[in-house]
Amino acid sequence: MKIEKILPRAQETILLFVWLFALGISGCDPQGTNIQNVSFRNGIQPIFDRSCVECHNQALANGGIQVQDYQNLMSSISMNTGNPIIVAGDAYQSILYDVISTDDFNRRMPRNRPPLAQESIDTIGVWINEGALDN
Ligand code: HEC
Repeated sequence: MKIEKILPRAQETILLFVWLFALGISGCDPQGTNIQNVSFRNGIQPIFDRSCVECHNQALANGGIQVQDYQNLMSSISMNTGNPIIVAGDAYQSILYDVISTDDFNRRMPRNRPPLAQESIDTIGVWINEGALDN
């Protein structure tokens, strides 16, 4: 095939990737939402109770993670990294945010289930960025 024929194709492909990349960034950016002033008690713990606690509680702490209350959540350590799963103030450094927002089915939480609603993912991201407070 002549180079003139391949080139437009290549450009199209590159554009598509740029577009998908931009979409990916905006789609998982809690900064991109207008959610704010998230309360742990009213906004966050109910999400964990609904979707995570059955596998991450005192009796059954998969991966050593417990999310049944604030204290256990904040002191849970990732077996993969040896670090706490939440870095207050920085969702992107927080393994918890990573595992709920990743497209990788093998890592994504809740395990073997559909992902959390985007609004729940954003709410958790904003809460972490607001300092992961016990509020
Ligand atoms: C059906 C069971 C199940 C559910 C529901 C579930 N998890 Fe997990 N989770 C696991 C298992 C099993 C592991 C152990 C490590 C692994 O397999 O990656 C794990 C590991 C983790 C880890 C540690 C990852 C690491 O890098 O160390 C985090 C954080 C986590 N889960 C958060 C959550 C959150 C948040 C929810 C709810 C949105 C959730 N999980 C729901 C089964 C579950």
